[in-house]
This record gives sequence, structure tokens and C-alpha cells, in this order.
Amino acid sequence: MTEYLVEPASQVSGTIRVPGDKSISHRALMLGGIAEGITEVRGFLESEDCLATMRAMRALGVQIEQTSAREVRVRGAGRAGLKPAAQALDMGNSGTAMRLMTGLLAGQSFDSELIGDSSLMKRPMERVATPLRQMGARIETASGKPPVRIRGGAQLNGLRYELPVASAQVKSAVLLAGLYAQGQTTVIEPAVTRDHTERMLLSFGCRVDVAHREIRLAPPQRLDACSLEVPGDFSSSAFFMVAGSIGAAPLTIAGVGVNPTRTGLLDILGLMDADLRVVNHRSAGAEPVADIEVRPARLRGIRVPEHLVPLAIDEFPALFVAAACAEGETVVTGAEELRVKESDRIAVMAEGLAAMGVTCEVLRDGIRIQGRPDRQVFAGGTVDSHGDHRIAMSFAVASTRSKAPIRILDVANVATSFPDFPGVARAAGLNVRIQD
Ligand code: S3P
Repeated sequence: MTEYLVEPASQVSGTIRVPGDKSISHRALMLGGIAEGITEVRGFLESEDCLATMRAMRALGVQIEQTSAREVRVRGAGRAGLKPAAQALDMGNSGTAMRLMTGLLAGQSFDSELIGDSSLMKRPMERVATPLRQMGARIETASGKPPVRIRGGAQLNGLRYELPVASAQVKSAVLLAGLYAQGQTTVIEPAVTRDHTERMLLSFGCRVDVAHREIRLAPPQRLDACSLEVPGDFSSSAFFMVAGSIGAAPLTIAGVGVNPTRTGLLDILGLMDADLRVVNHRSAGAEPVADIEVRPARLRGIRVPEHLVPLAIDEFPALFVAAACAEGETVVTGAEELRVKESDRIAVMAEGLAAMGVTCEVLRDGIRIQGRPDRQVFAGGTVDSHGDHRIAMSFAVASTRSKAPIRILDVANVATSFPDFPGVARAAGLNVRIQD
């Protein structure tokens, strides 16, 4: 099993770039695949999760050419042009790929089956199956989990759906099915979640109206291919925002997507007195981009406002590391969704933090962390990422304030979102070694 050995190093500095946004890369392949014409994607994230979506779209008959690591040309099959796959579509570790593909496949004329790795096979799928069935789709799960079996030939009808959980994946699955429905599809969110699907649908010429957490989609006759630019992934930059804040030197992360539905961590770290500046605002097509300058700061513990939770949902493992280095207690609540990510991120982070000497208490829907502003907060030692990419990268960042080396187990899945994390981390000054 692959592991990291990370030696203590506090001088993270310089200017780095992180790879393309995962959420946007998945969506570019799916929407490009059912558009008319060729969609050019620049800044594509060539990671295991996005490659699972690419393989699935190819298996459904879409021609996709990868002209370089970060450039992809999708020859759209048209809205009615997908073909049945010869076998079950393997979505690997990716919940986004499985849930969004379920929406896309619900309105096709043919049957499909979706499977994944051992982590994905344990994740809840009824959250997408339920609204899609209400639209007329015929979908079976195995007691709520994958495999997801979709029967083709169903006539979908538009739906007005109030999401019971704040989930961009569920919202997106319903909207993708809505592309094949008769009548308007409306999704109402309990809290704002990432809106990449809505923005990208507009780029493909679809009619989407958004007002007061209500998203309305009129089924299009066709989607028109377009050029897409994928910004750096804010969630991948989060590890370096934390490293720079708890480290001992300034660091800049260039070309990061700063869509306001993703940047809750900036607000949370701001409340903790971090010194973060978002500069050089520009846009990458429909998405805002900027550089993020991070300076070391004396962080203070806070109670994280619950309304920021969905806007920072993937950043909590990294935030917990920052909280351990802050003066006083940090309390996170309203974050039960963390328990159904690639791992139970509350339990797994608490286990690793405790193994390195941090006092924390697991709550039903969050965590309470006792921070210490010492130079060497973490004792070092061995932590298990339980195959969760974001947990592995978060503990690597803890090395900026560690007394001894940190050995991080089961890290191969870092390649699902950030294949060159060790290289970028080393460029920033972290001392990450890969061991097999
Ligand atoms: C994602 C939505 C979020 C997030 C995931 C990517 C997306 O999941 O955690 O990493 O691309 O739509 P939920 O919709 O389950 O909150």
C-alpha cells in the first residue's frame, strides 16, 4: 500500500499552481458528450475520478480525444446520441461521477449499471434515485447503495423538488435528468451549494433561471458545444491555504477558481484571523478566478457558522488541521454530510488528530478541537487516511507544525483529485516522500 513519509518543514513559500477543478472537469465531459459539435476543454483535471467519467462517456459512444494532459476535445454525440455501454460503468472512487451519471442516464432509451470501488459501493445513492423516480425514472439500488441499475425507455417529467440535503450532486443529477424531461424542472436548495452545473448549462446554451435558491431549467432541444476553461481547483488549493497560514513564510496560489459557492474556507479562515488576500480577479469563461496570497498568522479557534458548511464541505479535513494550530477551541456542527464522503471524515480525522496528540471530541454532526498555538502542535507518528485523498493531504500539511515525521498510510487515492500533490507540495517546501 502506498504511503507518504512527511518530514517536518515549516518554510512553505513561493508561488504554486494547483491542477484543474474536479467538479467542473466531470461536468465538461458529461455536457460536452451530449452537445452538438466539439467542446474544447482547457485546464482539464487528469485525475482518476475524472478519468472514470471519461471512460464512462467513451463507453457510451462519445469520442473524446485528450490532446495533452490538460486539454480534451469532446465530440458531442448530441442529446439523443448516447449508446448503451457493453458492461457496467465503473465510476471508481467518485461519488460525483456516479450521482451525476445516474441523472444523465435516467432519461436514456437503454439500460445502464453503475459500480465503483469499495468506498463508493458503500455510499448513499437513494438521495439521487428518489427524485429521479419521482420524475418517472426506473432506478434500483442495493439497499440504497450501488450498484445503481437504471432501466432505459422511461418517459421523464419535469419536477419541482425541494432538496432534503444541501447537495450539489443531487441538484445536478436532477438537472441533468431535466434535460430529458417533459416540462420544466425546478430544484429548491435548503442552502446554497456549488453552482457549476447551472453556469455550464448556460454556456451550452440552455435556459436556466436562478433566484432565491430556486433553479429552473426548461428542457432544451439541443446543447451547443462550446470552449471551456477549467480554473485551478479551490479544494486542492485549500491544503496550501492552511499550510501557508500555519507555516512560517508567505505563499501564493495562482489561478484558483473562486466561485463564491466554493470559497467558504476563505470566510472561515478569515474568522480565525488568517491573513489571506484574493488578488488579480479575472474570469475563466463562466467561472471567476484569482490568485490567493497567504501569510502566516496566529489563528484563533471559533465556532464555525453553520451556513458556511456547504460552501466549504470538502475543506473540513484541512480546516481541522488549522483548528488544531489555533489558540482555543474550534467547534464545527451541522456537518453530518462529512460522515458520508469518501470516508467518515469526522471519525477518520479525529482518529488521526488524536494519534498525533491533539485533543478533540467527536460530535454527531461535527467535531470540537482544542487548538494549541505552539510551534510543534503535532507529535508526528503514523496516521491512516483510510484511502481518503483529502485526509491524506491534510495530514501532509500538518507537517508544517510537527515535532517528528508523519507517516500517512493508504494514500494512493490522492490521485483521484490531485495526482501531483507530492510534487506541488515539494515545490511549496513540504517534505513529502512516497513509499510503496
Ligand atoms: C460535488 C459536490 C459535493 C462535494 C463533492 C463534489 C460536485 O458533494 O463534496 O466533492 O461536484 O457536485 P455533495 O453534493 O454530496 O455535497
